[in-house]
Amino acid sequence: MTVNSPPLVIGVLVSGAGSNLQAMIDAIERGTLRARIGVVVSNLASAKALDRARAARLPVVVVDHKAHATREAFDAALVEVLEAHGVRCVVLAGFMRLVTPVLLRAFPHRVVNIHPALLPAFPGLHAQAQALAYGVRLAGCTVHLVDAGMDSGAILAQAAVPVLDGDDEEALRARILAKEHELLPEVLQWFADDRVEVTALSTASSTPGGRSEGEDSALGARLRVRIARAR
Ligand code: GRF
Repeated sequence: MTVNSPPLVIGVLVSGAGSNLQAMIDAIERGTLRARIGVVVSNLASAKALDRARAARLPVVVVDHKAHATREAFDAALVEVLEAHGVRCVVLAGFMRLVTPVLLRAFPHRVVNIHPALLPAFPGLHAQAQALAYGVRLAGCTVHLVDAGMDSGAILAQAAVPVLDGDDEEALRARILAKEHELLPEVLQWFADDRVEVTALSTASSTPGGRSEGEDSALGARLRVRIARAR
């Protein structure tokens, strides 16, 4: 982003406590993330994250997944809300729904997730418990582009923390979460600075009429990310 260009508009999807949302709000207030949160969307009206959003005077929308017959119809409703708020980059911050190509096509290479493990190890739910059960000595978090799989998209950045003797799930969760709060705003600033370059390593199956940008990840091509040098 140059000094005069408008800030990146982020849409944040949440289902839970919203500590990562708070980290984004705080980073924007501090000026370390030069972006604007256009809307916070939750599938659950009870999500604590929405209280944080309201306290920061951010627009809040609830889109109940149960009110939609299919994942695709739910995603279409999300896209409508995100587009209406001028969103250019979508962040899944503790959003407990799998997204479909409907969302991915609307925001090509601009849907980001944060996961509390060093992917590709321990995708899915209870990543910290999986790490403890396996007995790894290093755990951490991953920020990655979202594709149609489960925590399987191209990795943008990772940060590691030690697993200490005597750790339980809660202790490890808290140590990882502190790293998440640093890493996510840092990666989002790369998007704000237009430094994230995405190339397809493999070709997705072709569709009649050709593919638009972003169709590759929506259809399952393997992507590789490069972070350009700061200008
Ligand atoms: C985080 O651990 C994140 O990595 C995972 O869900 C959790 C969300 O926490 N995807 P919060 O709602 O941001 O506090």
